[in-house]
Amino acid sequence: MKKLHMIYQDGDHQWGMIARDPEKPDYLIDTNEYLIMSGDDALITDPGGMEIFPAVFSAINEVYDPAKISRIFASHQDPDIISSLGLWMEFNEDLKCHLSWLWASFIPHFGGNKETFLNIPDEGNSFFVGNLELKSIPAHYLHSSGNFHLYDEKAKIYFSGDVGAALLEPDDTNIIVKDFSSHIKKAEGFHRRWMGSNTAKNDWCARVSELDIDMLCPQHGAIYQGEDVARFINWFSELKVGIKYL
Ligand SMILES: [Fe+2]
Ligand SMILES: [Fe+2]
Repeated sequence: MKKLHMIYQDGDHQWGMIARDPEKPDYLIDTNEYLIMSGDDALITDPGGMEIFPAVFSAINEVYDPAKISRIFASHQDPDIISSLGLWMEFNEDLKCHLSWLWASFIPHFGGNKETFLNIPDEGNSFFVGNLELKSIPAHYLHSSGNFHLYDEKAKIYFSGDVGAALLEPDDTNIIVKDFSSHIKKAEGFHRRWMGSNTAKNDWCARVSELDIDMLCPQHGAIYQGEDVARFINWFSELKVGIKYL
């Protein structure tokens, strides 16, 4: 089963990473969900697919009351990101979901109602979870046409959705990147194919390299920490992406 790993803690401000499920069928891509807690309020990033809802829910339930989760953040529209929405809404019909305005009429096919969605404008916005301010950072075309990441300036943690994703072996249990040069080989094919725009990529690299980030947390693979954050951004800025480079 999946497990919640505490990756940051400062009083009642905490980040948990829900990662690695050795029992998951191998035809499903492995995903990381992050629970951002601020006292009695919490947000979950990209809660995942319907198939893994029970594993995510019970991993959270081990350490935090899921009834305290008031918000979902969906980086984009993919099924591995947000197809569990209907199940989350069955658990708590008052849940709110932050996502790009572009997907506002598509995602309700997975669940939710008129009151559920808090549309993010193209330029991004900021909002509170408990007394913690979070910023949605535009990452359009990386890989979705309406795509956002989430930045916690206080914790210096940046949730990067599919950017930074690596397809790891099922027996790889490291949640933090240990050896950048071997890890990045497992990320290269994914980025070349899924990231469709060199212009968007270079713009993202320039903006994000200005942020103070200690952990860059992708939705697949492992967390880049410390100097590996800049290493990743440099590597990505030099990578040629898109169909021409298949
Ligand atoms: Fe995706
Ligand atoms: Fe993904």
